[in-house]
Amino acid sequence: MLAIGLLAYNFFRPLVNIEYVKVCDQKDKNCHVTNLPYQNSTLSTEERIADLLNRMTLAEKIGQMALVEKNSLGNLDDLAKYGLGAVLSGGGAKPEVNTPAGWQEMVNNFQSYSQKTRLSIPLLYGADANHGHGQVPGATIFPHFIGLGATNDPGLVHEVAKVTAAETAATGIYWIFSPNLDVVKDLRWGRTYETFGSDPQVVSKLGQAFIEGLQSYNKRGLTVAAGAKHYISNGSMVWGSSTNNDFFIDQGNSNISEAELRQIHLEPFRQAVNANVKSIMVGLNSWQGEKISASKYLISDILRGELGFTGLIFSDWYGVYEIERSKYNSLVRAINAGVDMIMLPYDYEDFVTYLQRAVANGDISQERINEATRRILTLKFELGLFDHPAIDSADLKIVGSKENRDLARRAVRKSLVLLKNNNAAVPISKNISKILVAGSAAHNLGKQAGGWTVEWQGIDGNWLPGTTILDGLKKSVSANVKVEYSLSGDFSAQNNLADVGIAVVGENPYAEGWGDNNNPSLSAEDLSAINNLKQKSKKIVVIIISGRPLNIKEYTKDWDAVIAAWLPGSEGQGVADVLFGDYPFTGTLPIDWDL
Ligand code: BGC
Ligand code: BGC
Repeated sequence: MLAIGLLAYNFFRPLVNIEYVKVCDQKDKNCHVTNLPYQNSTLSTEERIADLLNRMTLAEKIGQMALVEKNSLGNLDDLAKYGLGAVLSGGGAKPEVNTPAGWQEMVNNFQSYSQKTRLSIPLLYGADANHGHGQVPGATIFPHFIGLGATNDPGLVHEVAKVTAAETAATGIYWIFSPNLDVVKDLRWGRTYETFGSDPQVVSKLGQAFIEGLQSYNKRGLTVAAGAKHYISNGSMVWGSSTNNDFFIDQGNSNISEAELRQIHLEPFRQAVNANVKSIMVGLNSWQGEKISASKYLISDILRGELGFTGLIFSDWYGVYEIERSKYNSLVRAINAGVDMIMLPYDYEDFVTYLQRAVANGDISQERINEATRRILTLKFELGLFDHPAIDSADLKIVGSKENRDLARRAVRKSLVLLKNNNAAVPISKNISKILVAGSAAHNLGKQAGGWTVEWQGIDGNWLPGTTILDGLKKSVSANVKVEYSLSGDFSAQNNLADVGIAVVGENPYAEGWGDNNNPSLSAEDLSAINNLKQKSKKIVVIIISGRPLNIKEYTKDWDAVIAAWLPGSEGQGVADVLFGDYPFTGTLPIDWDL
């Protein structure tokens, strides 16, 4: 009897030697299972995915395809109710307590809801982290990409990305919507600073370095995925073509030929695929009048077919719903074009209904849903989320550490471009007697950091831990050098001319289409500060803080030296390091500047 029992046991036993346990929380009507084959980390990812996919209902698969914006989640129970696959923090979507620990707690809390679902599929949490973990005060803020483009240094970019991944992962986020691989053509575009510049070769090379840096993160079985964006031709839109009434070029249309699209804009994505990028975001723009997210040709034929991309393709913001008036039709078109995961910033409840209907109507095939779900699950398995859904706080101490800030400072040094230098005005000696400093960006971390810092549009003022350029200048000079500062350049009380006047001027923070500007230049206040400064200084050095080249041609003849410092981030000391000659100027223009 015993023998027969054992035989039957062995016969019916699953191939893997584990027990199935069903866990039911008394207070919670949802039961979830543990110790199923897909939860067994000793099995291969393929085996685990096959097992899990077999167990999933259509509704659960559809839930996985949703990427919901944190601030539109009305009720956190919806995470479990709809089995949502992913959540993101859009620009400025921060926890109540905006600290690294606050972020970690927020993500852990979201994750705990995913663990209440029937199959406990972990949540994927995404954030932009496009110049360090920029939404988090206390994180290291690196120069925006345009400054990294000026360094043209893939080794440095790799290190920056690696630290960005570590600081972001420390808060529980393993999916980063970066690098930006747009090749910018029109500097009036408000996203110019998010790009490595206008040279496809540089964008490809630095993009690859960034992806490899981010994805080299590996700690306690958890890794990080890059999300290269915005596929494709986002940098070549036509001024005036924006589909957004508030913008001029952002979210617009690009009319370039297919040959140009391939030569200039596809190249960085080809390199990204070669670098094994794990996900790609499809842009909000159009090519030849068609929204990219609806283009089967660009997504399935070129990106999947020709480039051989096997990772996750996801959409950007509300982009999918801008394909057509009908949400149903828009979703059908995007998903059939090849988008696997849909970003849903405002509403997600009807997404599930529409997709279920689309499958029932035969407008989207079961195979397509399975394919998309498989890619999403693959990413989650590869990141290690199934095996380590909760994060502990041990890593938080690295966020904004001295070592990381030193790297950012080095990146700032290498990003500076010397645009003009008459009579060797720079480097400045550290042993002169007096320096006057003026301008709106001299003592303003928010301006230094630009958009996508704490808030989507950035913040004005000194709300972040960091070093302003003025702080840096003061620290660099010897103790007997007097450094006087006036934002407006009001030095009327000064009797003698200073050895040098340093003006730090530039753009106010902005992001996306709000930064579209037909004539980016200096404000009247900054120009007046420079003129005031000039009255009281033997020579004038102008440092430009901006996301793009500014139209300053008519003024530069009056200035001795001009330096492009881009949007250097939290470590203003890097500017002083070069200004006083401790390091040379090595940056080169990532985009033409008409001087
Ligand atoms: C931007 C993306 C960004 C996303 C989430 C979109 O509006 O175009 O670059 O990743 O928002 O913040
Ligand atoms: C979000 C950004 C997003 C933008 C799109 C903002 O409200 O914070 O992340 O890119 O909307 O328009």
